[in-house]
This record gives sequence, C-alpha cells and structure tokens, in this order.
Amino acid sequence: MNREDFLMLQNNLIYLDNGATTLKPKILSEVTADYYNNYSANAHRGDYNISLKVDTMYEQTRQLVKDFINAKSTKEIIFTSGSTDSLNKIIFGYFKYHLNKDDEVLITKSEHASNILPWFELEEELKIKVKYIDLTSDLKVTLDNLKKAVTSKTKVISIAHITNVAGDIRPIKEIINYAHQNNILVLIDGAQSVAHLPYDVQTLDVDFLAFSAHKMCGPTGVGVIYGKEELLEKIKPIVVGGGMNATFDSNKERVYSDLPHRLEAGTPNIAGVIGYGSTIEYLNKIGMDVIHTYEINLRNYALKELEKVPNIIIYNKTSESGIIAFNIDGIFAQDLAIYLNKHHICVRAGNHCAKILKDEIGVKNTCRLSLYFYNTTNEIDKLVEVLKNPYILDEVI
Ligand code: ALA
Repeated sequence: MNREDFLMLQNNLIYLDNGATTLKPKILSEVTADYYNNYSANAHRGDYNISLKVDTMYEQTRQLVKDFINAKSTKEIIFTSGSTDSLNKIIFGYFKYHLNKDDEVLITKSEHASNILPWFELEEELKIKVKYIDLTSDLKVTLDNLKKAVTSKTKVISIAHITNVAGDIRPIKEIINYAHQNNILVLIDGAQSVAHLPYDVQTLDVDFLAFSAHKMCGPTGVGVIYGKEELLEKIKPIVVGGGMNATFDSNKERVYSDLPHRLEAGTPNIAGVIGYGSTIEYLNKIGMDVIHTYEINLRNYALKELEKVPNIIIYNKTSESGIIAFNIDGIFAQDLAIYLNKHHICVRAGNHCAKILKDEIGVKNTCRLSLYFYNTTNEIDKLVEVLKNPYILDEVI
C-alpha cells in the first residue's frame, strides 16, 4: 500500500527492517523543510508571529498524539527523544521514588535492553528485585504465567506490548486488569506496537506507555511518554533547566511549570515534533485497523512461503505481528544478512538488543524481518527466492 509516498522504494530496495525504523513518507521531509526554511524559531519562548506559529504546530502534534492513542488530555503526552528516553524518564523519574527495598518488578526475558537495563540499575540502587515472568515454549506471556510470578511484593509489571524479536502480541488488557486488581502498575513498552495496531490507552487502562516516532513513519529523535495525569504529576523531572520552570530565585526557591512542559526541559526537537504531526495524520488517513489487517495477512503469507525454504529455522511461528525471526541452519545470521544485502534486501541480524532472549531460544543471533504496510507479497517472493538459492552456502561470506 501507498508505496508511491516513499522515495526509497523507487530504488529497487526491499526494506524489511521496520522494527529498527520505518521508512519516511515524503510529507515528513516537506513539513520539516518548511519549518527550517520558513519559521524556524524556538518553541514556547517568543512573542512574535513565527514563534507563535511554532507553538501552534508543536502543540498540534501533541493533540494528534493524544487522539492517536486516545489519551484523556494533552497533559498526558510528553515529548522525549525516543522510547529509550521515555522508559528511562519513567523508571528513574517515577519508579525510583515510589519503590522500596524488596519491592518486585516483573519483566520478561524477551524485553528490549531499554526495558531491562534501567530496571537492573534501579535494582542495584534501591535493592528492589527484578524478576522474570516465564515465557511459554512459543515465547509468549500468558495470564497464568503472570499470575505465578506475581507476589504480594510485586509493584510493577514492565513489558513490551509487542516484542522486537519474538514479535508476540501480549494480552495487555488482561494483564493490566489483573495487575490493577492487585495494586500493581503497568508500564508498556510500545515501541513495536503503537505503529501497528489501533491504540486506546483509556480502554486498555495503561498506566505508562513509551514509544518512538521513527518507528511509525516519523522522524528520529522524537519519542513519547504517555502517563495517566495523576501519575505524571508525581514524576520528578530528571532533566531540569529552561522551558520547564515557572520561576526560581537566588534563595533556591523554584516552581516548575505544569504538565506537560515540566517534563520537557530544554529546546526540544521542534522540527521533528512538527514533522511527526504530519506523519500521524498520514497514518490516520490510511487507518490503523487497515494497517494492522494488512500486516497480519502479509505476515501469514511470508510465514507460509518461508516455511518452504530448505534448512530454515523460524523461531516465532505462532506470533501474531509482522516480525519473523529466523536462521538458515549452518549459516551465521550476520553472514546471511550480508548475503541478502547483496540482493538489496534489508533485514536485521544479531541479538536485536534483546540479549537475554537467548536463554529462551537457545541461540544468540537471528535474522529478523519486520514488515510494514508498504511491503508486498512480491517482496516476500523475492526474499524467498534468494533464500532458496541452492548455492547459498557458497555465496554467503
Ligand atoms: N529496537 C530496534 C530494533 O528492534 C532498534 O531493531
């Protein structure tokens, strides 16, 4: 769908690394260039026309993000530099001040580093305990396994909605329901999900959600924290400075601004945020339900065709998203990715920042293809043709 909107697709490139970052539609560079060429003032600081225009455009994106995930208020939308920044600000700005020694945090072994390492740091600092919810043999989180992991000390469940290698879609509504019945807060890493599913944080009753613009056709360097207003009110700004204070004096008295600006110190990525707005409108026009259905059908097609490739090992056959992790028996994952690159096919190889997933799948490195709405069955056919090459062992480096 919509391939004509992506200049990079005009060059015979088969881009299957959308989990790392998506391609950008032309509208993004047009809107960004317009800002840089025609009204590149700072945000929230000027009293002249172009600065007021910046404020309007910047806040318009906040409104678009609010509507995109159905938050209650724009106060619940904080711009950051990406999912990693969002997760760190939530964990070190909120949980650091609301957890005590021996409190337990539940994660899984298929989380991305950005939803593991901040917790390891906090464990060391606060003497809390980071524990793992067992995954099923097909790498999923079930409510039963969650219930087995929860104790009276569990205070937080911090999990991806869709994981970046296993690609499983977690039953987060059920997980959140159960968590809330037990007074547990839930932090959702939405880096791989917000771009791929219709989202409604109110129906899901999410406490905190982190995601990135660049994985949803938007710019790099922009991310979002969604948090319920009452929780965001209690976040300690871990970055302080300009743009987030109402006043301070030489006696060191200080009053910080209201949400959302209190949590956005410094000059933000203005061009990025404004550009992000245009890509949200772009996705809205296509429709997130249309994107989701398209992607699932394409995934099913890809899986069916890949299974015909000799010696292929697919690690997440029963997952439901557009992410497929695989290897060809006897070929090192990175070598396979380099071979595919020779055929203008981009996949990611390695551990994909999910370094403890190897405990579950028994292998450190995989190739990962990750789909988006502009990918096609023809592209999958080409990938499969290249993987079926009977001389593949000779051609990989
Ligand atoms: N987190 C990104 C990925 O999974 C970069 O590739």
